[in-house]
Amino acid sequence: MEVQGSSGSYQEIDVQAVAVAVFQGEKADEGFLKGLDDAAGGLVKSVLESEELKGKEGETAYLHLSGGNGLKARRLLLIGVGQREDYSSASLSQMAGTAVRILRGKSLKSIAIVPRVETDGARAARTVVEGAIIGLFEPDKYRTEDKEKRLIERLVVVMEGEDDTALNRRVEEGRIVGEAVNFTRELANEPGGYLTPTDMAERAREVANEFGLSIDVLDEARMTQDGMGALLSVSRGSDEPAKMIVLKYTPPYASEQTNTDLLALVGKGITFDSGGISLKPGENMELMKYDMSGGATVIGAMRAIAQLKPPVPVLGIAPCSENLPSGKATKPGDVVKAMTGKSIEIINTDAEGRLVLADAIAYAKTLGATRIIDMATLTGAVSIALGDVNVAILGTDQDLIDEVIDAGREVGEKFWQLPLDKEYSKQIKSDIADIKNVGGRKAGTITAAAFLKEFADGVAWAHLDIAGTAWGDEARPFRSKGPTGIAVRTLVNFVERDARTRRGADEE
Ligand code: BES
Ligand code: ZN
Ligand code: ZN
Repeated sequence: MEVQGSSGSYQEIDVQAVAVAVFQGEKADEGFLKGLDDAAGGLVKSVLESEELKGKEGETAYLHLSGGNGLKARRLLLIGVGQREDYSSASLSQMAGTAVRILRGKSLKSIAIVPRVETDGARAARTVVEGAIIGLFEPDKYRTEDKEKRLIERLVVVMEGEDDTALNRRVEEGRIVGEAVNFTRELANEPGGYLTPTDMAERAREVANEFGLSIDVLDEARMTQDGMGALLSVSRGSDEPAKMIVLKYTPPYASEQTNTDLLALVGKGITFDSGGISLKPGENMELMKYDMSGGATVIGAMRAIAQLKPPVPVLGIAPCSENLPSGKATKPGDVVKAMTGKSIEIINTDAEGRLVLADAIAYAKTLGATRIIDMATLTGAVSIALGDVNVAILGTDQDLIDEVIDAGREVGEKFWQLPLDKEYSKQIKSDIADIKNVGGRKAGTITAAAFLKEFADGVAWAHLDIAGTAWGDEARPFRSKGPTGIAVRTLVNFVERDARTRRGADEE
């Protein structure tokens, strides 16, 4: 799909359909809607007056125009976006996703979206492009029949009066970020048989080569050398070897910064989680192909960062493994030794994510990371606590946590902080080793984070549990069901914001 911004009038644009945001309670005989109503031969007024559409978020009305009244397009889609004062990034993105999904469903090939944002229109255009690209993703890769084959070939985002250069730069950023989110979703959607740790490393290598990141992939021999006994205890039951993917983005010009700050993004990459010897029940086990969503989020975010080129370096690390039972698999009761030297009693082999992350966090530190954000489909408990609405965020550095939450708010992704008091760490004390890998039934999301905290000392650290939010069980008007790519947009925005504040601080 070709995407472009336009600062001209939406009425003149040569597309098949125009999608326009309508606020709750708006009238067709004044302001913007009056102009639209005139151009649509009075149809907008009739739709609003009949209360077919009141502007509530998610409402839509699709109109055929006879032409000759001023609007070049012959189809008009009105989309309710709720109250004007509540018009957020999330509503903008969702409006765009809804528009493209409906209009693709009508077999249209060229469309324009009129988001009607008055301040920082260029930034809003980026959000619209992100939402549109995310909206068009379909998880039907392996279908041979009834596949969604229709394509929107051209999308124009209309921001009247906006500066063209700024607008088109933002539109391009939106394309980069939207495609990165869909890249993450494609990986998360791949069955375990098609995306082993080796395949995942291969996909990361392609990204690194295409967009200019450096890459190192640790094999099991190197992990053994480095003493990564926690990670290796997870891959032991599988015939597929574990891989630790290490991507690095270095800004294109030599930085004058004396700053030695280094951010690392670390993501759980379990390409299939059967639970191991502590085997999961069969029901819904097929979903455990998405247990590498954290790793896919890291690779997706790095893919976007490589193209946006912020002036700060970023590390991206994905410890990848399968978790399977076999005659060689780690057993409950076994004790393993992490890279840091800490001994871990394995109570439940299904709590494997924290084991691979423990060694990845330790490894990030050896590479010089001073701030670490890890992300993982870590606990079923997070769905009980926060459902599919909020990502759980926990950590040791309140500034870092607040920055992630703010970065999320700006792009319409929600995070909710859970507490991480030291009392919770009592739950992971072991009788025979330093710690154990489960903390009992209570506060499962928190005790998983308390486990990771043992490996994150000495750095600013935040942890995202995306188990409840990385998979959508149901389709929504603005996106398909399946992998959501949650947190890619937040992390990219986090890095961009961080680069701005750090550069600002340097110039002072
Ligand atoms: N990958 C799962 C967590 C998960 C569950 C993700 C459901 C998405 C949906 C993780 O490895 C796991 O099995 N965690 C256990 C931990 C328990 C054994 C302490 C869990 O949450 O049940
Ligand atoms: Zn598990
Ligand atoms: Zn898992």
